[in-house]
Amino acid sequence: MKNIKFYLIVALLVVSCKTVQETTQVVKSEAPIVDTREIQGGMWIPSLLEGVNENEMQLLGSKMTAEDIYSVNNSSLKDAIVHFNGGCTSEVISPNGLLLTNHHCGYGVIQSHSSVENDYLKDGFWAMSYEEELPNENFSVTFIKRIDDVTEAIFEGVNSDMDEAAKMKLINQNILKVSKAAQKEAWQDANVKSFYKGNQYLLFVTEEFKDVRLVGAPPTSIGKFGSDTDNWMWPRHTGDFSMFRIYADANNKPAEYSKDNVPYKPAHHLPISLDGVEEGDFTLVFGFPGRTNEYLPAVGIDQIVNVLNPAKIEVRENALKIVDEFMRNDNNIKIKYASKYASIANYWKKWIGENQGIEKSNAIQKKRELESEFSKIVAEKDLVGYKTLLSDFETLYKEIESVSLARDYWVEVVYRNVELLNITFSAFQLEQAFLKGGEEAFESRRKSLLNSYKGKFKNYSAKVDKPVFEKLVSLYAEKAPNEFMPSNMGNVNFSTLTNDIYANSKLTSLEGANELLTGTAEEVIKKLNGDKAYTFGKELHSIFYTKIEPKFQELNLQLAAVQKEYMKALMEVFPNKRFFPDANSTLRVTYGQVKGYAPKDGMRYGNTTYLKGVIEKFVPGDYEFDIPNKLKELYDSKDFGQYGDNGKMPVNFIGTNHTTGGNSGSPAIDAHGNLIGLNFDRVWEGTMSDMNYDPDICRNIMVDIRYVLFIVDKYAGAKNLIDEMTLVHPKK
Ligand code: ARG
Ligand code: GLU
Repeated sequence: MKNIKFYLIVALLVVSCKTVQETTQVVKSEAPIVDTREIQGGMWIPSLLEGVNENEMQLLGSKMTAEDIYSVNNSSLKDAIVHFNGGCTSEVISPNGLLLTNHHCGYGVIQSHSSVENDYLKDGFWAMSYEEELPNENFSVTFIKRIDDVTEAIFEGVNSDMDEAAKMKLINQNILKVSKAAQKEAWQDANVKSFYKGNQYLLFVTEEFKDVRLVGAPPTSIGKFGSDTDNWMWPRHTGDFSMFRIYADANNKPAEYSKDNVPYKPAHHLPISLDGVEEGDFTLVFGFPGRTNEYLPAVGIDQIVNVLNPAKIEVRENALKIVDEFMRNDNNIKIKYASKYASIANYWKKWIGENQGIEKSNAIQKKRELESEFSKIVAEKDLVGYKTLLSDFETLYKEIESVSLARDYWVEVVYRNVELLNITFSAFQLEQAFLKGGEEAFESRRKSLLNSYKGKFKNYSAKVDKPVFEKLVSLYAEKAPNEFMPSNMGNVNFSTLTNDIYANSKLTSLEGANELLTGTAEEVIKKLNGDKAYTFGKELHSIFYTKIEPKFQELNLQLAAVQKEYMKALMEVFPNKRFFPDANSTLRVTYGQVKGYAPKDGMRYGNTTYLKGVIEKFVPGDYEFDIPNKLKELYDSKDFGQYGDNGKMPVNFIGTNHTTGGNSGSPAIDAHGNLIGLNFDRVWEGTMSDMNYDPDICRNIMVDIRYVLFIVDKYAGAKNLIDEMTLVHPKK
């Protein structure tokens, strides 16, 4: 490992970056051969790139300095990167605050403006002037202004005599103190986040804009082309983008919505390269990855892959099969369930890919090898504090296994997939609110409950939910751990039970639910407790709250403490390995190269797909693979304008960037800081990168920016948007 670092530095000095760009796997030169796979993977903190990360990026072909990417005093790339309503990422692509993100990130907003007459999901939406842009309530985007290391201040007063609970209490107090004392402007916010499992703390000064308007979206048949069948897959052909605009007050500061607000003037907007990409080109993805688990011990991964994932996959598979059948045979049900189906199917498919990838890459075995090396060094150096970490993991994971499994069954069956049980759960919370907070708590809860039921029942069909109930509840009874089994699950004829509940419960329709919820608090509680669905659900929820959750939290706290210590130990024992902090929805940089891959023996995937492939997949009338006529016409006439590449229209490409959920909508940036693509997914074989990034098979999927521009310009005719962008030719 030490040698590799040395070679990298030699290579950096000896090899010109041009050579690096031209070769794909290996840097060939007088210098020792360096495997560039060694320097990919990782989600790095933008304020700490100087030195190692900067060198690695340049070895991969970047021409940028750390300061070009993140700077407090000068404008830099980071000034164009925007957290999109707390979930996805977006980027500023014009001097007038134009924002680019994914179609699936803008989906809710697009849907909220749609009606039968103006179906923007189906037909797309394009504002041809500022006046036509659509404002949104309860929506915001956030810039990161500054990142400070505050670790010392957060650990002030913490000492090794304290127990874990006392430490955490003091740390949380310090976090409050530090955020309050942070230097910032009146319109800015400050918050502290934990990194490296609680070994480092960073302060983020942010600026949140609440007037964000919808500017454009392609029809779903382009923005979600291929839908669930193609989701998590390569080769891919999706135009997954939408556009928004940030508005500010007259001083260019954040403000609530007002018709007097004006387009925001950013400190930086990304220029857009029209020159495309080729194998080996440098790519940087800048965004807000949500959550990863890269430093689990082998026993933890083993549990996810062999116990928890299979259980969750089985539950979802059974639910999806039933819902799919109804959707195929009934158009009304298809519309009601499309969005729910897509979100359940998304992670179902991800977990299957994750399991296959972990197995294929031998990830557990590799972790075990790392752990035995770790133990050897700990023994040699007599690092007393670290000697029991691995056996502590073994003990705790063994202990938590059945409670984690029971928890997953409850979450998947009761909370996520059987809608009636989810409905009883909100009613259960109402009863709990009354028991704890009396009439007042009851009233406020009832109000929000009635509201949420309105939304839930709009897309509910008891006909679909009933067979799901029967199937999943039987599965729960059969497979969930016995020690956490509710008493009403033993010795039951589930078919009779299901018939009885769906015939008699009032909670299967909005009218019935409203009727149950009318009256004084006492009356409502009494009526609920006479309802068959409610009493059945209540038993499950009670077990969850009294047995499953407390035990889970208790063990999880202990696991977190061991994990924190283990993280510190790993970094100490392997000082030359690359350690990046797990994703935590904060701003990160990941770099890599455009690269195809070999998913199986004898199979090799290229790095780019073209419009030709869209036409190959096109099935007229199909709900996943139909396309608008206009797109077909543009293809037939090869009318690609300045966006085509030698008579072909590029659509998607893949690279080795280490991304996860939350990186959706992140910009893919070239060696010079220009926008070349829009991140939206990963390849199936590589979804295990959340636990084990492998440069051979982990790939992120991006929309080629030229396809975005082609759709905006040639398909939608929204030239006004193209005109405000900065288009460049860095390769010419
Ligand atoms: N798999 C991508 C992600 O995790 C895209 C999901 C949206 N697309 C879909 N077909 N469901 O968010
Ligand atoms: N589609 C994901 C998202 O919404 C990104 C894909 C991934 O998990 O890498 O963030």
